[in-house]
Amino acid sequence: MSDVLILGIESSCDETAASIVRNGREVLSNVIASQADFHMQFGGVVPELASRMHIDAIYPTVQKALDDAGVELNDIDGIAVTYGPGLVGALLVGVNFAKALSHVSGKPLIPVHHLKGHIAANYICFPELEPPFLTLLVSGGNTMIVKVNDYCNMEIIGKTLDDAAGEAFDKIARVIGLGYPGGPKMDKAGQGGDVNAYKFSVPRTSDRFDFSFSGIKTNALNIINEAKMKGTEININDFTASYQAHIAKYLTDHVLLAVEETGIKKICLAGGVAANSFIRRKFDDIKDREGLTLYYPRLDLCTDNAVMIASCGYYEYINGVRAGLDLNARPSLRLE
Ligand code: KG4
Repeated sequence: MSDVLILGIESSCDETAASIVRNGREVLSNVIASQADFHMQFGGVVPELASRMHIDAIYPTVQKALDDAGVELNDIDGIAVTYGPGLVGALLVGVNFAKALSHVSGKPLIPVHHLKGHIAANYICFPELEPPFLTLLVSGGNTMIVKVNDYCNMEIIGKTLDDAAGEAFDKIARVIGLGYPGGPKMDKAGQGGDVNAYKFSVPRTSDRFDFSFSGIKTNALNIINEAKMKGTEININDFTASYQAHIAKYLTDHVLLAVEETGIKKICLAGGVAANSFIRRKFDDIKDREGLTLYYPRLDLCTDNAVMIASCGYYEYINGVRAGLDLNARPSLRLE
């Protein structure tokens, strides 16, 4: 089969991104226009402003992805675009741009699920990786364990019943004054801290594979408020170390349950929270004992990018997945 070049476009939140990937695995270009610094002043992403910024950035970002790869639109085999889940106004910018490109070029339009994209980041980093495997997908809006049966066929084994892991990081980081985005700041704040200094509860859910983070968050808030009421302060280094170590153990324990249930010992991490060093260290600790093979995507491919969308788009393309010009943004698109 001759080479397949896919243009990937991503605009689901606050990154406008475009990339060209060859045969699902080889990155020819990777362009990201991030709005993160702009939204920092508001303490979070402002959806309306994000949409407007995507409109300004989308054309130069896609043009740069083509230029960096040394190709023209005509050389591309398909245009893959994130159509959900995400912020509706933000998604619409990428979807409509991709539709217009598809219409003028006659190239097929490939709809990509953002979370499947996060999983596909692993295909870029690990050329030998092939399904089946389990993925712990932990991002700002989602926390789930996914059984990847094949490139385009996956099942959710466990999911969060309330907050996502990323929210548990971001909310508590804000309360203790670390600012936005909280995850990376908390990661840094906890380095070298005592992981046993503060205790948190283990949430119970009726399905043993599901997650709940609201109780852990409330625990953390109670510890902070109790200290305030006593006129003392929590030790930020120890507190953030204990909090992250607790979440890391909670996540790895769930993955081990899924390993036991499925017999699959190949584990990928995916999503922004997969960049967390406490979570990575915890997986490293249990890897040999449990006989696991672990795959952690490069840090810059854990957070939103278009390389992962182009990679996922390649597998959808060769499976015959296509969208018409009636493709719409689906802010609450489910994985299954
Ligand atoms: O996957 P992502 O970029 O966006 C979504 O699709 O949701 O994930 C963003 C989330 C944020 O909650 C951010 O705080 C978190 O990933 N994050 C981290 C780290 N880096 C990013 N959380 C913990 N530790 C990190 N090092």
